[in-house]
Amino acid sequence: MSKRIVNLIGLALISSLLSIHTHAQLMPVPYSTEPGIGKFQINAGFSVSVAGNVSEFVYDRADDFLRRLNGRTGIFIGQERIRKGMSQPATVSLKIFSKEAGELALGMNESYELRITPDLISLNAVSSYGIIRGLETLLQLLEADPEGYFFNAVTVKDKPRFPWRGLLIDPARHWLPVDVILRNIDGMAALKMNVLHLHLTEDQGFRIESKAYPKLHELGGEGDYYSQEQIKEIIRYAADRGIRVVPEFDIPGHATSWLVGYPELATVQQEYSIEREWGIMNPVLDPTKERTYEFLDTFLTEMAGLFPDAYMHIGGDENNGKHWNQSAHITKFKEENNIKDNHELQALFNKRLHKILSKNGKMMVGWDEIQHPDIPKNIVIQSWRGQKGLAAAAKAGYPVMLSNGYYIDLIQPASFHYLNDPLPDELGLTSEEKKLVLGGEATMWGEQVTAETIDSRIWPRTAAIAERLWSPADVRDIASMYERMGKISIQLEEHGLTHEKNYDMMLRRLCAGKGVDELRILADVAEPVKRYRRNALSDVNALMPYTRFVDATRPDAQKAREFNYMVNHWLKDRDGSQNDSKKNNYKALFQQLNHWYSNNNQLFNVIDQNPIIHEIRPLAENMRKMTFIGLQALEYIKNQSKAPEAWISFALGICDEARKPYGETELMIVEGIAELINACK
Ligand code: ACM
Repeated sequence: MSKRIVNLIGLALISSLLSIHTHAQLMPVPYSTEPGIGKFQINAGFSVSVAGNVSEFVYDRADDFLRRLNGRTGIFIGQERIRKGMSQPATVSLKIFSKEAGELALGMNESYELRITPDLISLNAVSSYGIIRGLETLLQLLEADPEGYFFNAVTVKDKPRFPWRGLLIDPARHWLPVDVILRNIDGMAALKMNVLHLHLTEDQGFRIESKAYPKLHELGGEGDYYSQEQIKEIIRYAADRGIRVVPEFDIPGHATSWLVGYPELATVQQEYSIEREWGIMNPVLDPTKERTYEFLDTFLTEMAGLFPDAYMHIGGDENNGKHWNQSAHITKFKEENNIKDNHELQALFNKRLHKILSKNGKMMVGWDEIQHPDIPKNIVIQSWRGQKGLAAAAKAGYPVMLSNGYYIDLIQPASFHYLNDPLPDELGLTSEEKKLVLGGEATMWGEQVTAETIDSRIWPRTAAIAERLWSPADVRDIASMYERMGKISIQLEEHGLTHEKNYDMMLRRLCAGKGVDELRILADVAEPVKRYRRNALSDVNALMPYTRFVDATRPDAQKAREFNYMVNHWLKDRDGSQNDSKKNNYKALFQQLNHWYSNNNQLFNVIDQNPIIHEIRPLAENMRKMTFIGLQALEYIKNQSKAPEAWISFALGICDEARKPYGETELMIVEGIAELINACK
């Protein structure tokens, strides 16, 4: 082989290693990265210039970029605030150029090209939205070594796979003040998400001020609602970060809060009060009365003036039809108008809404249930009931986006959401039908979260969904995703997000500040129960406390995931010689189990002293038994001896007991321990 070829192979190898290295920090993974040579060293002289046809917010985001860089490096970068009309610095480190201002709308151009060389960083985009996406990438590329902070040379060419990458937040079930929304908008921008879907009305609350019908928010919101000025602030804040705000007014079901002030809109005439329970309720608007449509016309026209986005969501889900079925006037109306069922009746209602929205220049969005042959095709279906619903909508010619599989309130691991693709091959869509799939939305339904806990349910898992919707379809490596998600999670705290810091705070309160370390050891391997099991396990209600152990614990417990992975890894290469890595893995497993086991006596004391956590005593008891059994199993395996059958069945019995939730919380190391036990057979 010639020396030149060897060199070329060497370069290619370094290149590919570097490229992996770049991916190790970026989330979402960009469309393409090409490593360069050398690095751009950051010092106090770092400066930014902005040129081209940019929106005003680009100056603000460039300024934020500089402050965040300041904050992350501790280097006092001397450049003055970046503002429109500022004098350009004499020497430039980061040169920003955008061809067009761009317009915030579905399908806006978010592509950018970021080129880092040892002397200059250039960020070019077609529109201002590409610039702000690229600035987030650049910040993620920040690295450190003993010599200081730097950006490795690289060229990133990036663009999103889907144009609709959303997060639904539900301040209707549990009220969320403005600052909660703003900090989550920052989180979304960091992950290049671009739609904030606000679920503003529900059985449990009406959260938007209406000047036309003030009893909606006054009685329906019980004092907790966004004023129109606050909504304008949210919309502006989001727009300046390339995020559209799509409001949802969920009708005709899920509408109790509307009826508290305006019972005349209801199908069944009675007094209504704010719902305290969770679930699917009977109250429903009356689709047979003209008064309903006059009211909705005035209200939705008012909202159309407030929310500038071209899309407006009318909900349409989970109308159980009970009040329609029990009302003689509805039955009569259906007979007179030849309407065969409630679905058709709701389609008639939706057609009227479609007219109102169209008149106001808005495109209608609704959940699966609104799909009906009578409804025009210029709406968007949000598919929540399954991938089949998404395929059905696309095949029928509707633009559609996916939420099934992105229900982050179900407390499933990030890996589950990550592998849920909006366009799996099995759907069998044609290339034309595929074009109708706009993307998806993570849904943070509000039943089990409050302002204190919501960030810990959204972040960091939503980063995995953001990547699914932005990055190329073949970016699917779970280990890499988790590694990058861990880094991003810490960066997100920069925006005041509380998913990390509230954990310790809540644990501290549960034990009145004494024993938080012991309590954290248990909490680190515990998770809230999954898939709405919480509703079945306790007497849940909107006014119950969400400050218990279950609320402090977080989805996708990292410590448990790492333990289960380590077990799996160790057992995989268990035969053969005792090599070093195996010995180290054994040692790490032993130390981990021993650490957990030795925590127990102190933990029981902490639990005894604090009645609010008495409910988790059985969980701690199971942890003690499990870790003891785990240590025994480890010894059997290490000594390559078989465990007696009686011990195996006893040990597996302990696992079965430990799978039971207590305090609506479950232990996540059971599968790892069970794997160890099974390996002793
Ligand atoms: C829904 O989850 N009912 C849209």
